[in-house]
Amino acid sequence: MITVIGSMNMDIVVQTDNFPVQGETVLGQLFTTIPGGKGANQAVAAARLGSNVHMLASVGTDSFGRELLEDLKANGVNTDSVMQTEEAATGIANILLSEGDNRIIVVPGANYLLTEANIKRMKETIQQSKFVIMQLEIPIPVVKYTLELCRELNVPVLLNPAPASGFQLEFMDYVAYLTPNETECELIFGQNMEATLEKYPNKLIVTLGSEGARYFDGTKHILVPGFKTTAVDTTGAGDTFNGALAHALGQSLSLEEAVRYANASASLSVEKFGAQGGMPSHTEVVKRLEGVSN
Ligand code: RIB
Repeated sequence: MITVIGSMNMDIVVQTDNFPVQGETVLGQLFTTIPGGKGANQAVAAARLGSNVHMLASVGTDSFGRELLEDLKANGVNTDSVMQTEEAATGIANILLSEGDNRIIVVPGANYLLTEANIKRMKETIQQSKFVIMQLEIPIPVVKYTLELCRELNVPVLLNPAPASGFQLEFMDYVAYLTPNETECELIFGQNMEATLEKYPNKLIVTLGSEGARYFDGTKHILVPGFKTTAVDTTGAGDTFNGALAHALGQSLSLEEAVRYANASASLSVEKFGAQGGMPSHTEVVKRLEGVSN
């Protein structure tokens, strides 16, 4: 079982040909609301691949909150530990899609009402988990508390440090895996990526978008190449990578095999619209790994 402790957002997506510059108004082509949030996305990614996933999160009692809960349930994620609060609106992410890229503003809302007490109540579930996955869209003290609890319970944590601004260097002592993208890696550790990777062998895995992902195995640098794909929407690719990585490690794949599996999953995820739209099943990933086009 995998436990995901993280955010649930309704993604409010607008697609446009050009990002507006400051003070400019442009016309868009599409507006839609669609389930997202790094926590929920990573939970769905792992569940679609076949993991038994428990979600611990907080949403509002509003219609967005209800929709997000339904979405998780439809994807087979256990939502018994998702708290519903009247004290804040469900988190949202304002996503601008253009030029094959995205720009995201998150308003955390109910996500920021998750407390240490909520985590404490999940102690048994956490204890039974092969992995706990977290990101940084929930209060940082709660992340810190969870890291301490997981260490006490001897449960490995995969931490995706996004958004990177909340990351604290001391977290490195607690995590089994840290999975920043290149930008997040530089923000957290500075510019010398090679030296940083060497400092955290088999622990720091830097995702490189379509190029794949890299880490240091204690002796040499490993670049696990990405898979060729035609991207429709890259939102959620990193989340797919993380959910898939935890799933694969949970199936006792080696780190290199698991990263390759996660790369294949992420490459499939960008082929459909929406953060969760293209998240693949295990069968689809196997086909991609074998070079069979879908
Ligand atoms: O990683 C993509 C996610 O980031 C989106 O679904 C959005 O909700 C934000 O949390």
